[in-house]
Amino acid sequence: MEIINPLEELDEEELRARLEGAALPTHVAVIMDGNGRWARSRSLARIRGHQAGVKAVREAVTACREVGVKYLTLYAFSSENWERPTLEVRALMQLLKNYLVGERDELLEKQIRLEAMGRLDRLPKDVRAELDKTMALTAPHDELTLTLALSYGGRAELTDAVRALVAAGESDVDEGTIGRYLYAPDHPDPDLLVRTSGELRVSNFLLWEIAYAEIYVTNVLWPDFRARHMYAALLDYANRERRYGRVSAAEGGGR
Ligand code: FPP
Repeated sequence: MEIINPLEELDEEELRARLEGAALPTHVAVIMDGNGRWARSRSLARIRGHQAGVKAVREAVTACREVGVKYLTLYAFSSENWERPTLEVRALMQLLKNYLVGERDELLEKQIRLEAMGRLDRLPKDVRAELDKTMALTAPHDELTLTLALSYGGRAELTDAVRALVAAGESDVDEGTIGRYLYAPDHPDPDLLVRTSGELRVSNFLLWEIAYAEIYVTNVLWPDFRARHMYAALLDYANRERRYGRVSAAEGGGR
């Protein structure tokens, strides 16, 4: 589907200037999609698209940190992704491990905390070890919290939350109780959900947490995603009026 985002016509400098003083989201969540199509359009193997996607991850992280977004959550590997061909899964796990080792110093230098959410016990042991190490080292930082959703599914998260609250003997369950049993109970809900490659789906991502998120879809394939695309999404968000189901401020509503 062709989606027109006029702000994506502006260059990075102009977008940065327009973001000065704008109402930024505290938490941005991203469905990184289109790696396979990016590779196919160049007659490359799918994994080459994932490799190129790592540069886009770096750009998104840096862009968010630069302007003061406090939480960035990336859908890096879904529960469903385990069903992909073994070689692709292996290659994705290797890329992830390389990222966790290769970016460690950069994350520390930029005071970025790395976290992860999902059924992490399914990850290969070596990946899990590097993940745990990077999370432990970056834990004291709070410039930006970068969360990788790994082996993650929204329904699995809710199922795990219900299992845990039943096991804990919770009674009198309300929305707050469920929130406390999610994978990242201390994170604010995403204000903005970005999806690349023009698909209009939420794909089992943060189903509970995105209840009131603004959605920004871009046709850009993930490996082509750059800082200016993130800034365009942030500016688009800043120009919207969030009503949370209430009437608009102009009509006497507001938060
Ligand atoms: C979706 O593209 C993307 C993924 C399944 C994986 C995302 C992984 C990365 C961007 C690289 C590694 C990540 C980190 C954090 C180091 P797709 O393959 O579904 O694309 P398609 O829909 O065009 O086939």
